[in-house]
Amino acid sequence: MARMIRIFDTTLRDGEQSPGASMNIEEKVLVAKQLARLEVDIIEAGFAFSSPGDFEAIRRIGQEVEGPIICSLARAKVEDIDRAWEAIKGAPKPRIHTFLSTSDIHLKYQFRMSRDQALKRAVEMVHHARGYVEDVEFSPMDATRSDVSYLCEVVEAVIEAGAGTVNIPDTVGYATPQEFGEIIRTIRTSVRGGDRTVISVHCHNDLGLAVANSLAAIHAGAGQVECTINGIGERAGNASLEEIAMGLRTRKDFYDADTHIQTEEISKTSRLVSKITGMVVQPNKAIVGANAFAHTSGIHQDGLLKEKSTYEIMRPESIGLVQSRLVMGKLSGRHAFRQELTKLGYSLSDEEINAAFDRFKRLADQKKELFEEDLEAILSEAATRVLERFSLKGLHVESGLNQVPTAIVELEVNGRVVKETGTGDGPVDAVYRTIAVITATKSRLLSYAVKAITGGTDAQGEVSVRLEEAGETVTGNGADTDIIVASAKAYLNALNKLASQLERRSELGKKVGLC
Ligand code: KIV
Ligand code: ZN
Repeated sequence: MARMIRIFDTTLRDGEQSPGASMNIEEKVLVAKQLARLEVDIIEAGFAFSSPGDFEAIRRIGQEVEGPIICSLARAKVEDIDRAWEAIKGAPKPRIHTFLSTSDIHLKYQFRMSRDQALKRAVEMVHHARGYVEDVEFSPMDATRSDVSYLCEVVEAVIEAGAGTVNIPDTVGYATPQEFGEIIRTIRTSVRGGDRTVISVHCHNDLGLAVANSLAAIHAGAGQVECTINGIGERAGNASLEEIAMGLRTRKDFYDADTHIQTEEISKTSRLVSKITGMVVQPNKAIVGANAFAHTSGIHQDGLLKEKSTYEIMRPESIGLVQSRLVMGKLSGRHAFRQELTKLGYSLSDEEINAAFDRFKRLADQKKELFEEDLEAILSEAATRVLERFSLKGLHVESGLNQVPTAIVELEVNGRVVKETGTGDGPVDAVYRTIAVITATKSRLLSYAVKAITGGTDAQGEVSVRLEEAGETVTGNGADTDIIVASAKAYLNALNKLASQLERRSELGKKVGLC
């Protein structure tokens, strides 16, 4: 029987540390619910002390997401651990994850602590966390650049203090697979209590080795692996969840290990995280890239036609990549619509279903056939919608060769309809400039991307934009069969999010006395 490896997903914590990948509270809850459908074992929902928004997201996820253990990160400080507990105490299965560096480089230059002081603090903080909750994890940060015998001393001491999981982070992505495997083997065999503790690993991808290091650690006996969807995370990212899960599933013969991951949910989870964070997945990315299952060589295609196993080591269906399924058309009714949503795993309130159904009917007028991906776009648009201060009422654009692109935009702003005309370098620029004038907003456009949701010339275009204002970064999405309309929707979605986020920041800040 294969050993079951625990999947600790840190998309909402380390993943969110990717530059520009910030998510609002509703979006984090939505991702956490999808992670629960994927059947990860643990969700690191955030770092409670770091911001009121993180605190609230962890609290909501703890109360609303069923299945996985819900965890908050905390530095090895009393105030951090207290705040982590406040955030997760409503969760049925709470965990506190506390950390302190063990490398001399970090201790000397960053923490200004001796090895003895760090060891004592780690033990005290694990005790403190155990005062709140049984499930405590400790991470010796920068473990792979630490003196191995000191590292083992710390690991032994925190186990003795009550840590049930000890996570070994390769914080700066410095380790090599052979070396990292050796460290894990040494900890497992030489540390007292190692046999009754889960040894976890957390690898960064600075040298492109995060997944290789994680798999080497599993081979050496690690029982938990920390990873993120699409490998997003600080700098070059973290180990990618989908690569580890599929690596173990496909090579069970070698690793004799597996996970509880429902791999058929991988593709959907990847799309959701990419859409919400605005971080596009590179086409050649293993498992979830657009080309991961595309065979173009004639020799390969010939082999595949004769027998799939000639060139295919995984089936696209195993990650949920099925041929776009035609789900509905113009004549489909509300009841069939609700049934399709349930099949896709969404549970919406009556009010949300009504709003999504109206959108569906409008789309069905523009597009003959609607695919699963079209419904997903409608639903994620509905689920991530925030209070709409600005909504699109009308749009007319003129552009072409030797013509100044001009937009006439009609918006409802706080209940009042305002119409304005503006010009720009191109049609999208003209629309964006005009919207900025009407809404009197000063955000900076960081990125703009457009892609087709399904095939065909009547496909919906999906636009994703990233905006920044006053230190807040948001991603906005919009879909429509007209890409200029989709662009306007994405921009307004981002502006509405920015307004909510800035307002929430000041409200939560006042509540907890941080600003
Ligand atoms: O990379 C790292 O060391 C971390 C720790 C907080 C676990 O993210
Ligand atoms: Zn990390």
